[in-house]
Amino acid sequence: MNEGRGFRWLSPLGTGVALSVGLCLTPGCDGCGKQGATPGTAANVAPEVVTEPVEPLPELSELDLDMRKVVLGRRLYHDTRLSGDGTVSCATCHSLDHGGAEPRAVSVGIGGQLGPINSPTVLNSRYNFRQFWDGRAADLREQAAGPIENPAEMGHSFVELIPQLKENATYTAAFQEAYGSEITKELVLDAIATYEESLLTPSPFDAYLRGDKGAISAEAKAGYVAFKEVGCTACHSGMLLGGQMFQRLGLLKDYFKDRGKEITPADLGRYNVTQKDDDRHMFKVPTLRNVALTAPYLHDGSAETLEEVIRIMATYQLGQDLDAAKIAQIKAFLESLTGELPPHAREPEAAEAAAPAGVTPAPVGSGHQTPQVHG
Ligand code: HEC
Ligand code: HEC
Repeated sequence: MNEGRGFRWLSPLGTGVALSVGLCLTPGCDGCGKQGATPGTAANVAPEVVTEPVEPLPELSELDLDMRKVVLGRRLYHDTRLSGDGTVSCATCHSLDHGGAEPRAVSVGIGGQLGPINSPTVLNSRYNFRQFWDGRAADLREQAAGPIENPAEMGHSFVELIPQLKENATYTAAFQEAYGSEITKELVLDAIATYEESLLTPSPFDAYLRGDKGAISAEAKAGYVAFKEVGCTACHSGMLLGGQMFQRLGLLKDYFKDRGKEITPADLGRYNVTQKDDDRHMFKVPTLRNVALTAPYLHDGSAETLEEVIRIMATYQLGQDLDAAKIAQIKAFLESLTGELPPHAREPEAAEAAAPAGVTPAPVGSGHQTPQVHG
């Protein structure tokens, strides 16, 4: 029956993940760095975590980040002038107040245009193996160009944007300081991506994985055990509890038939990139970090609550019926993945908003800012 099919298929995956972690934790493993081991994993993980399918995030201090680029990227990320009509910034759809995503089923771009799909979180997104639900961008730098020139999102063009930014003394000086260069498209994308790369959100569950047994509640611990036992980790594993593979939504039961609504182009997922029938309804497995903050859920924004999406996952991905107690435990576990933003993530409000040369950062992480365009 279904369950058997699921598990035969699932088990090699789980083992593979545990094995690769285990290898790099071997004392004296001198190949770790060369094999691209997770920074910080080897030194900081409690010994019993070696075989866990989930890995803690590195500390921000372990990353090699240039704070001048981070701060410049933060300004660009929150600046509505990156959109054609000056109303939309990256933060409009990826708000720091909503776990790096937005409280809507689908995005709203310039002129109030409804987008086709739910916005995923930018937090910790540097560890995604590809970007976008269908993986069409290889990395954050490639990704960032998309929304700026997408007519339904920010509707701007770099041909116009770069001269506009160059007219701004604050930006000109900041690019000189961070890059020793005038403003170019590549550097705008690099600064935004560098800011995103700095958005790590260590959570109580990371503390637990690193050995602090009291960091999460008994309910959350039971939830983590259930999460592994029912098979969620076959897809949601690694540092992001996701972000490492594509999988079909409705692996064991037809999700789209039961949903009832007409299938949209966005529902085809990875198929839109490869045109292969096997890739129909395949999506990047999303990260579960900060998921308690990012409702509604799924690429179509159709699940309103964590309980609902946990039930959908159990039914359609694993062919299982979970009782209310199990669901509550898993929910408590997912809540323990809510992390803390680094202190530099948000714009220092008043001081910078009053900066010369018309630099007007959008209000911190607000998805509902009033347009402010300065000459
Ligand atoms: C109008 C809303 C909107 C705006 C503005 C917007 N995004 Fe997005 N973003 C989305 C949506 C929707 C997706 C998912 C699209 C898809 O997968 O097809 C997305 C995907 C992403 C992803 C991929 C995350 C993942 O897990 O795959 C990143 C990173 C991202 N956006 C960063 C940015 C940055 C940086 C900006 C500003 C330059 C920006 N976004 C502007 C709505 C928006
Ligand atoms: C076979 C792979 C697979 C398994 C097993 C699986 N998931 Fe998922 N999960 C996915 C995919 C793929 C998506 C994205 C689907 C979409 O939105 O189209 C997803 C989405 C989610 C989301 C929504 C995240 C968001 O930001 O919208 C949550 C929460 C989630 N899964 C939790 C779980 C839990 C809990 C379990 C175990 C009961 C589980 N998943 C088992 C593949 C899987």
